[in-house]
Amino acid sequence: MHDSDPAGVRRLRALPADAAPPRPDVRADVRLPIVGVAPAVPRHVAVIMDGNGRWAVARRLPRLAGHRAGAQAVRRCIQAAIQSGVEWLTLYAFSSENWRRPAEEVTDLTGLLRHYLRHELAELHREGVCLRVIGERERFDADMRAEFERAERLTVGNTRLKLMVALSYGGRSDILRASLRLAQAVQAGTVDPQLLDEAGFARFLSTDGIPDPDLLVRTSGEFRLSNFLLWQAAYAELVFLDVLWPDFGAAHFADALDRYARRDRRFGARPG
Ligand code: FPP
Repeated sequence: MHDSDPAGVRRLRALPADAAPPRPDVRADVRLPIVGVAPAVPRHVAVIMDGNGRWAVARRLPRLAGHRAGAQAVRRCIQAAIQSGVEWLTLYAFSSENWRRPAEEVTDLTGLLRHYLRHELAELHREGVCLRVIGERERFDADMRAEFERAERLTVGNTRLKLMVALSYGGRSDILRASLRLAQAVQAGTVDPQLLDEAGFARFLSTDGIPDPDLLVRTSGEFRLSNFLLWQAAYAELVFLDVLWPDFGAAHFADALDRYARRDRRFGARPG
């Protein structure tokens, strides 16, 4: 069916019907191996913010106090990213699995997120932050979904820092949902599976248009990915910090960047 199409047109056909056209601010070579020393500052940093509960328990405080202190650390992290010249920051704020926590904690966490979106949005906008939510947003109530849309609409033109907040996010769910959308597109005849490559598949993920993370940081001394960005972090440098998230600040961000700068990124290749 696509035999007479130029290659570029074929690639475009491998997009979901409602996909935005390729964006000029997204590098086209996200999956190409670039051998050698990585640029000193990672373009995209992803963070698993862990340790709120332990921070609260250590102080004999309710877990909500830990999450509130965690929200303060989010502000410090965003500031540090801006100051360091990082372009993209993805924060794992609520996983698909977090719905399984006791109802009271889920209510506390979603309430805190709602409060954050309502009260910090103007400041984020002033700072030039463009906010985008990734994850299963339909699992949130209509009020919360309206907050997501309002935040995204207001900040869509900002370029100083692109901030992705992962909410009800799970890497496996992301890949599964992408596969379902792809299957639908194949069925509808808008994608030729013979022509699909990794970049074409990635267009169906919730991170479409976002470059893969260069650096993935996890706090609290745990060494797990916990279902975060499983596809996207394939070549991310991993840094595990021995600090509980509520204590995270500019010095920890700088430490992670410093460790990243000393890594030798080979993407599986070997210099000739
Ligand atoms: C992990 O700590 C953290 C979370 C499940 C939620 C992260 C939420 C925030 C940092 C606050 C709000 C976020 C934004 C974007 C405003 P944990 O409870 O699993 O800690 P533990 O492992 O010590 O129990």
